[in-house]
Amino acid sequence: MCGITGYIGNKEAKEFLIEGLKRLEYRGYDSSGICVLEEKTLKTLKAKGKLSNLIDITSKETLSSNIGIGHTRWATHGAPTVENSHPHLSADGNFAVVHNGIIENYRELKSMLEDKGFKFVSQTDTEVIPFLLQYNYKGNILDAVKATVGMLKGAFALVILSTYDNGRLYAVRKDSPLILGRGEKETYIASDIPAILPYTKEIYLLEQDEIAIAEKEKVTVLNKEGKEISKEPFSITWDVKAAEKDGYEHFMLKEIMEQPNAIEKTVLPRINNEKVDFSEISLTEEYVRNISRIFIVACGSAYHAGIVGRNLIEAMARVSVQTELASEFRYMNPIINKDDLVIIISQSGETSDTLASLRYAKEKGAKILSIVNVKGSTIARESDDVLYTNAGPEIAVATTKAYICQVQVLNLLAIYIATAKGMINSSEHTALLHGIKSLPREVSEVLKKSDEIKQLAKKFKYTENAFFIGRGLDYAVALEGSLKLKEISYVHSEAYAAGELKHGTISLIEEGTLVIALATCKTLFDKMLSNIKEVKARGATVVAIVSGNGEALEKEVDFCLSIPETCEMFSGTAETVLLQLLAYYITCEKGYDPDKPRNLAKSVTVE
Ligand code: AGP
Repeated sequence: MCGITGYIGNKEAKEFLIEGLKRLEYRGYDSSGICVLEEKTLKTLKAKGKLSNLIDITSKETLSSNIGIGHTRWATHGAPTVENSHPHLSADGNFAVVHNGIIENYRELKSMLEDKGFKFVSQTDTEVIPFLLQYNYKGNILDAVKATVGMLKGAFALVILSTYDNGRLYAVRKDSPLILGRGEKETYIASDIPAILPYTKEIYLLEQDEIAIAEKEKVTVLNKEGKEISKEPFSITWDVKAAEKDGYEHFMLKEIMEQPNAIEKTVLPRINNEKVDFSEISLTEEYVRNISRIFIVACGSAYHAGIVGRNLIEAMARVSVQTELASEFRYMNPIINKDDLVIIISQSGETSDTLASLRYAKEKGAKILSIVNVKGSTIARESDDVLYTNAGPEIAVATTKAYICQVQVLNLLAIYIATAKGMINSSEHTALLHGIKSLPREVSEVLKKSDEIKQLAKKFKYTENAFFIGRGLDYAVALEGSLKLKEISYVHSEAYAAGELKHGTISLIEEGTLVIALATCKTLFDKMLSNIKEVKARGATVVAIVSGNGEALEKEVDFCLSIPETCEMFSGTAETVLLQLLAYYITCEKGYDPDKPRNLAKSVTVE
C-alpha cells in the first residue's frame, strides 16, 4: 500500500516529507519521491528501490521550501521505475500529485487526454490526475480539484501541490485513508498515524469524499457537497514509542513479544464479574439468541482467525458459521438473509476486498459486526458494531499480535453466543473465561523458548519447501503458521488437514521434506500420530508441536516442541506464537528482512 506525506508550515518541508515516509516504510513500497515548491517551480526528486536511495539524492540538493508532498509507491500499474514513481506532474508543470489507490477508469481518461494532445510519460493510472487538473484549471484550484475528482472512478487518497498557490495543499479522500495533523504553525498530511505522531497528537481523519485545504495556520474541510464542515480531533491513545522498535531488531519480534500484554488489553476490559461483557456493542443476548447463521469474511491472516472462530462458535454455540474469503465472497452470489450476522475481520480496517464485502452484506440487510485493530478505520466506521482488538499499532507487514487479538475476540464471542443460546452454563462460562485469562501467561512461557526456537531455525536455513499439518483447531492454526513462514521467508509452504495428505499431496514428501505437525488436540492425537508416521516413513523431517508432555511423540519425530497444557479450545493461541517465532528466526537465518517482505503491503487497499 502506498505511503503519502504532505507538509506546509514554517520549517523546511523536506524534513517531514522524508521522515514521514521513513515511518510509512512498513506499508511496503518499491520506489519513492518528493516534490517541493521552490519560488514558482515544482522541484521533484524520485528514486527506485529503498527510501535510502531517495535520501541520497535529496541530501545533495538544497531544497528550500516550506511546502511539499512525498510518496512511497507500491506498484500496481507499471513497473517500479523512476518514471512511474510519484509525485506525478501535469504537462505544464503546474500541478504535482501523490496518490494511494487505483483509478479504475484511467484508460478512458488517458485516451480522452491523449486525443487533446497530452503526452504521458509513465505507465501509471495516477498520471491522469495532474493532467486532468491542468485540463480543468480555469483559474481556481479548488474548482479544478472538484472537477477532476468528479471524473475519477476507483479508490484514491490524493495530495495536490500547485505553482498557482504556495500557501495551500489540497487533500482528497475516497476509500484510501488520509489523515491530517495540526502543529503550531504547520499542517502535516499522511496516509497513517505513525508518520505524524512524533510531531503532533492533534490528528484529524478525512472521511469519505471529503476535501481538505491545508494551510500553515488552519485546515478547511469540505464535504461531498462542497460545504465547509468542522471536525473534532481524533484522540490517539498510543505514544510514539509504540510505533518504534524499542531496541528490538525488527518490529515483528517486538510485536511477537508484546502479545501477552496485547491479549490482556483485548480480553480483560470485556470480562466483568466473571462474565463476558459486550456492553460496548448492540449485540444483545436477545438478538444473539435468534441468530441462525453467521458469516465470517476476511483476507489472509484475518481469514485464518475467522476459521478458528468458526471452529469455536460452532463447537460451543452450535450456530452454523460460514467463513468466506473476502475476495470471493461477493462474486459467489451468497445467500444472505437479514437475520444473518456478518463478522468482518481486518487488522487495518482498510482492506479493499474486505470493505467491499462489508458493503455488499450491508446492502443485503445483514447486521455487520467488525473486529478491527485500527480505530476510526473505514471498516470500523461502516460497521453496525465494532469490537476493537487493542493490540496497539502493528508495523510489521506480517501480522502477529493483531491476529492473536482477533482470535481472543472470537474466543469471547463464542462464549458469549453459547451462553446466550443456553449451550453452556455459568460454571462452564467461568471455566472457559479462566482458560482465556491464563493465555497471557502461557504465551509468556512460549516466548521464553525463543532461544530454543532460534537454534532450531538454524537447521532450516536452506529449507525451500515445508508442510504444516494438523486436525481440527490444529488445522486452522496450521493455515496461519504456513502463511507466516511463506510470506516472510519465501519458503514454499502449504497447510494441510493431516487426514487429507494421503489423498495426493503425500506424493511430494521425500527425504528431508520439512513437516510441521501440530498435535495439541488430545482427542485427535492418535490420528495425528498415524499421519506423522506416514510422512516419517517417506523421509520427512518432522517438527511436532504438542500440548504439555511430548514424551509420546519424541521418539517418533525429529524435533518436538511443547506448549503449556491449556484449555484445548484455546491451545491455538500459544501454538501460533511458537510458529510465529519459528517463521521469524528461519527468515533471519535466510538473511531476509521480516518487517518488509518483498511484494507485500501492510494493508491491501486495491482489489
Ligand atoms: C498478514 O500477515 C498478511 N500479510 C495478510 O494476509 C493480512 O492478514 C491480510 O492482508 C488482511 O489484512 P487486514 O487484516 O488488514 O484486512
